[in-house]
Amino acid sequence: MDKNLGEIQALLKKYDQEHLLNGYETLDENKKKELLEQIDKIDFELIHSLYQSTKKEIVPSEDQITPMEYLDKNKLYDDYKYYENIGKKAIREGKLAAVTMAGGQGTRLGHDGPKGTYDIGLDSHKSLFELLSDSLKEEGKKYDRMIPWFIMTSRENNKQTVEFFEKHRYFGYQKDKNLFFFNQGELPMIDTEGKILRGEDGLIKLAADGHGGIYEALVKNHMVEKMKQLGIEWVFIGGVDNCLVKMVDPVLMGIAIDKEVTVACKSVVKANPKEKVGVFCKRNGKPNVIEYTEITDEMAEARDEQGELLYGESHILCNLFNVSAIERMGATPLPYHKAYKKATYIDKDGNRIVPETPNAYKFEAFLFDAFGEVDEMAILRVKREEEFAPVKNADSAGVDCPKTARKLYKQFHHLD
Ligand code: UTP
Repeated sequence: MDKNLGEIQALLKKYDQEHLLNGYETLDENKKKELLEQIDKIDFELIHSLYQSTKKEIVPSEDQITPMEYLDKNKLYDDYKYYENIGKKAIREGKLAAVTMAGGQGTRLGHDGPKGTYDIGLDSHKSLFELLSDSLKEEGKKYDRMIPWFIMTSRENNKQTVEFFEKHRYFGYQKDKNLFFFNQGELPMIDTEGKILRGEDGLIKLAADGHGGIYEALVKNHMVEKMKQLGIEWVFIGGVDNCLVKMVDPVLMGIAIDKEVTVACKSVVKANPKEKVGVFCKRNGKPNVIEYTEITDEMAEARDEQGELLYGESHILCNLFNVSAIERMGATPLPYHKAYKKATYIDKDGNRIVPETPNAYKFEAFLFDAFGEVDEMAILRVKREEEFAPVKNADSAGVDCPKTARKLYKQFHHLD
């Protein structure tokens, strides 16, 4: 650490965050050191501007939104084999790796532990991590390979995640040989007055910086370097909470290689025009995802000559990137979006406050905000029932929950 206590105090005074040292003297030496290091690392200018952004009204965007072209995996006809062969060759040559983003808090599901450790209630009682590893190993066998697997965790869940894997003997993978764990970035949480919160441990209350943190995390943690050493050129990045995620897809890869694009994404068609999902589009001529909150009813209902929705391709966090695109995206800061959440914290008098309603802002980057870094990308529409069974909510919600995911998983694998 570069700064001493006096310098840290001056820094906090400048940004009106002096409460962060309340009770400092009661902390043990390690905690004291850790707290000062944390404070030293905070980008106070960024936090200040993020706080200001929470007070701004959202002005309607003047961006020019146009539809994005896509291919339908089930209507490729003769091209299917063509793309598949190109992809198969690249996978056989060891050019593919999988990345699972498992750094989220999984607040909606409400499981006590990392979401990947969740048992969706199959007879096998396999966790999401095991279902994903089964699929990777199964696919890898077709190419006589263990597809290298990279897992993004957050500081909050890293230890539990790694221990879970250890307990399950890494599901047949070898840590640091073909299985790698790395942490994503974090940002301090703030209250509605812009004050940075302190957690129950006396340290700064930090929260993972969103799935958009993936690019920077891959670069900063030298995972991209590792990928290059292993001869990897293509990386499938998906979430931990889709138990039907198909991480090894030669058709998707073949399309990316053949069309010379550095990003290729999968989509599923919207269940209905009103479905609350983000859809692929072009924003000011560049690839992007438009949120359901941003889209007008007219746009949501618009159809092409074949009767297909013009804005109907949902983004499902199933994206393939060339390593060069990840490097580029990792070097470009993404905007942060605010989320208003419940956060337990220690107030300035040292009291533990457990809120019953949201009380704090957390800031997250979204993975798709980086799509504009590339001029062109390919979209491949796949069948929802074959590749998308998300576990987002508790069963009481009735949608995208363990019950619905279990049903889809069983149907796909003919388990009933
Ligand atoms: P979600 O946006 O659904 O968030 O993440 P979540 O954390 O799982 O759940 P809620 O919103 O708190 O209920 C989609 C995917 O992105 C990962 C998640 O682990 C999940 O696989 N993710 C999300 C991260 O890896 N880091 C983050 O900071 C956020």
